[in-house]
Amino acid sequence: LRVQLQLADGSERIVQVAAGTSLMSALRAEGLMQGICGGQKSCGSCRIETDAAWSAHLPPPDRIETRLLAALSDPRPADRLACQIHLTPALDGLRIAIPDRPL
Ligand code: FES
Repeated sequence: LRVQLQLADGSERIVQVAAGTSLMSALRAEGLMQGICGGQKSCGSCRIETDAAWSAHLPPPDRIETRLLAALSDPRPADRLACQIHLTPALDGLRIAIPDRPL
């Protein structure tokens, strides 16, 4: 499936990823993300911003994800952890931005 990205420099890119993986794993494989904790919801290095039109299609963040996102610098309502977004065919065309904000 396709994921549409807006990169930190403002450029746009589309990546093809296999369903069944996490968004963090897919972006890390493209060299676009660190994913330091490996998806354990403890590092925040996989922070992304979801497009408003897609937010409703994603399962809401659990308490641990919400707490970590709030603890990062400059938190915003559209923030999510890419390691907690599991790609399914229903998310084909998902649009996200990779923010240029320090942790
Ligand atoms: Fe560390 Fe997502 S990879 S919080």
